[in-house]
Amino acid sequence: MSDTDRELRVSKIRNGTVIDHLAAGQALNVLALLGIDGSGGESVSVGMNVPSDKLAKKDIVKVEDRELSQSEVDVLAVISPEATINIVREYEVIEKERIDRPESVAGVLACPNRNCITNDEEPVETHFVVLDDGLQCEYCGEIVREDEVATHLDVS
Ligand code: CTP
Ligand code: ZN
Repeated sequence: MSDTDRELRVSKIRNGTVIDHLAAGQALNVLALLGIDGSGGESVSVGMNVPSDKLAKKDIVKVEDRELSQSEVDVLAVISPEATINIVREYEVIEKERIDRPESVAGVLACPNRNCITNDEEPVETHFVVLDDGLQCEYCGEIVREDEVATHLDVS
């Protein structure tokens, strides 16, 4: 049985983005990354710990009428490098976006250092350099460990 057969538990979408092969446990982080908490009225389906061919278990997130920004894809690449992004139009997958580990990430993450210039009243977009095991703020040098990334999403 293929992944697709098994996934009939989460219905197909007409238009939007399917973020597939997420490491189990990452679905809620991905929703936070996309700023989705249900209040925006988006149509979203989430599968957690779904059986998969490629991974023992995976999470999957399907968002209708939404595409991901480059910054969102960059953070996704850090928190779940095996994820695949499928763009769906009229029920067909028309594109599978590559996700590469980025060299840097702009926006999306907040710097944990309260004194960092990016946390001043004047808005300054955050910039993090991607290291082997974390991300480093370009402004103050603060490091966000890879396993902490999800707790520093800037979901304002
Ligand atoms: N999908 C969906 N709605 C659609 C089309 C596809 O939700 N209208 C989902 C599928 O259920 C699958 C993912 O998008 O989880 C990718 O679809 P597809 O490329 O058809 O499946 P696979 O070939 O199994 O993908 P992969 O090779 O990436 O595993
Ligand atoms: Zn900083």
